[in-house]
Amino acid sequence: MARQKIIIDTDPGQDDALAILLALASPELEVLGICAVAGNVPLAWTQKNALKICELAGKTGVPVYAGASRPLVRDLVTAEHVHGRTGLDGPDLPEPSMALQAQHAVDFIIDTIRLEPAGEVTLCTLGPLTNVALALQRAPDIAARIQQIVLMGGGFSEGGNITPAAEFNIYVDPHAAQVVFASGIPLVVMPLDVTHQVLTTRQRVAAIGALGTPVARAVVELLEFFERYDEQKYGSDGGPLHDPCVIAWLLQPALFQGRHCNVSIECSSELTMGMTVVDWWHVTERPANAMVMRTVDADGFFALLTARLKTL
Ligand code: RIB
Ligand code: CA
Repeated sequence: MARQKIIIDTDPGQDDALAILLALASPELEVLGICAVAGNVPLAWTQKNALKICELAGKTGVPVYAGASRPLVRDLVTAEHVHGRTGLDGPDLPEPSMALQAQHAVDFIIDTIRLEPAGEVTLCTLGPLTNVALALQRAPDIAARIQQIVLMGGGFSEGGNITPAAEFNIYVDPHAAQVVFASGIPLVVMPLDVTHQVLTTRQRVAAIGALGTPVARAVVELLEFFERYDEQKYGSDGGPLHDPCVIAWLLQPALFQGRHCNVSIECSSELTMGMTVVDWWHVTERPANAMVMRTVDADGFFALLTARLKTL
């Protein structure tokens, strides 16, 4: 069976790391490249973290590109309070021996979409949408050639996490999100409503630890650092494993349920900046532009993740 070609755009981030590991452990996927963007931590860290994760997975042949160091319009907002100073706090991963590609991530996205057959490349975005928006602005022709964008971002009834109204990835660059949601490209959205259902409970983290491999040990340390923030905030057993939902949908879409509806992005009000206004009940005439997921089989998600991590 033909492998699904993907480009991962990411701001690692412990949960980004799990998503990248899941992708690299899945033979159904052909990772054409990994693009770092500023988000959880500044670009200097996210680009290095992407290299570290590829080396942790033993996949040093995957090209990694540095992208945008700041949002389209707004100043960069980061999340060291969640991810730590490095963005990958937890394990002590070695300095990467892999080098970044010389090409800018935005140029890589444009060139790859133009070179690959139309409709065969999926963009998997795990952070702010700055790189993708820049690519669409610089090369509008690629919109019709992108198979789909599967993105982690936004919130519906779950509200926001960085503000009461907005989820972090959209909040950091709402103008980029506006470009992507207006692009006409088929979108699959993993909002907080879904990701808050996939919690890294003690039992699930223990099951990963029981794999007993170096990757599993590093993953447990990543998760034990990452989850502390949300556990303290929500009083939950474990933290939401946001970004791997993007990759899990590509591998087992039946794990998720949602509906096609309109998603519009607030870019004016400081009070609700970056809010994803989801017309779930179709009460407006705004055309549906995204498949918004709202439920997930959490046990099935972790069974898939654990089984794939075992292969690394
Ligand atoms: O709001 C959660 C999202 O913001 C995740 O992608 C996390 O990695 C951060 O980027
Ligand atoms: Ca992320």
